[in-house]
Amino acid sequence: MRLAVPKETAPSERRVALVPDTVRKLTARGIEVLVERGAGDGALIPDAAFTDAGAQVSDDQAAVWGADVVVTIAPPAPADIARMREGALLVGFLQPLTSTATAIAARDAKVTALAMEAIPRISRAQAMDALSSQSNVAGYEAVVLAAENLQRFFPMLMTAAGTIPPAKVLVLGAGVAGLQALATARRLGAVTTGYDVRPEVAEQVQSLGSNFLDLGIEAAGEGGYARELTAEERAAQQQALTDAIKGFDVVITTALVPGRPAPKLVSAEAVEGMKPGSVIVDLAGESGGNCELTEPGQTAVKHGVTILSPLNLPAQMAEHASQLYARNVQELLGLIVPAPEEGGTVDVVLDWDDEIVSGSALTRDGEIVHPGAKAAVEAAAS
Ligand code: NAI
Repeated sequence: MRLAVPKETAPSERRVALVPDTVRKLTARGIEVLVERGAGDGALIPDAAFTDAGAQVSDDQAAVWGADVVVTIAPPAPADIARMREGALLVGFLQPLTSTATAIAARDAKVTALAMEAIPRISRAQAMDALSSQSNVAGYEAVVLAAENLQRFFPMLMTAAGTIPPAKVLVLGAGVAGLQALATARRLGAVTTGYDVRPEVAEQVQSLGSNFLDLGIEAAGEGGYARELTAEERAAQQQALTDAIKGFDVVITTALVPGRPAPKLVSAEAVEGMKPGSVIVDLAGESGGNCELTEPGQTAVKHGVTILSPLNLPAQMAEHASQLYARNVQELLGLIVPAPEEGGTVDVVLDWDDEIVSGSALTRDGEIVHPGAKAAVEAAAS
């Protein structure tokens, strides 16, 4: 069985889907690994490190896309998916809810595609949870960016030249990225506050030594995610947040509702109420942003407040982000590529009764099977 890792082509993508350590583990299991030349460049992993780990490094794109299994980070270009052979397996962040082109290309190429972000968040799949591993990177990096752009200290300083109070950091949306942001900001010495609409989060926020901002709105949805708020709840939330935000030096926003535009939590009025020089880091830019004044992918200064909306933040910490993602993929492969019987050959065996396989499937045998992707493709066609 041959598994290939193409060089990522999406703009600003610097991660690579496997790292030498995981290659070593896979080759030890009898999997032949082919890495496209330069695939590790963005993550500062030289080709030689892949070769040393037992991979073959190649310029031959036909061989890479013609492998039995292709592992990527971002959805490949449809033209590349079209080069895959019928019955092959594609694994990556395939954006089932938003990238209809990927679902269509995989269906037409009769490729079986598993979307890393659709792996159910059950305890057995925790080590495969790439959404979490990458959100952890984003949450950390958001704080580093905020600290870099804030012309104030995060920690309290007591010096002969006077006392500087600690920065006040508010994190909106306390999922995986938000909790990591709170923990990182606290390590830097800030006084931290978290906010979320899922009630169980309050305890998690407080266990990190942060305050929880309770606005009395609860909106737990399915599968541990939040639901979209009603118009009334939204108005009440925005007003309460507008009042609260004024007192913070830094606001980091991470609030998302799967398949929906990001909720607008920070109004223009709230930005105007912040002290000039304050910083907002909006991690929801890819879904439209949590702040009304966010310009996705840009840094804007509005009313003296710097609003950063970096896209694909995990790619900016490509080395560790790749390492964690590669481990998630290795765990998934551990499930779907079982050890062969004595004298048998190593191969992909998909157990469609396993919820990890069926839940993450985007396409199977020339059909789009992910319900959200199916709906998105039908909606786009009508
Ligand atoms: P996410 O990235 O979808 O959203 C980030 C946060 O935004 C969530 O906490 C959500 O509640 C919050 N949010 C949405 N709308 C909001 C609004 N209007 N106002 C304020 N906050 C809002 O979430 P993420 O980080 O992917 O985590 C989702 C869930 O999955 C969590 O319950 C988490 O604990 C759970 N999880 C479970 C795992 C497991 O059991 N293996 C692993 C990782 C996460």
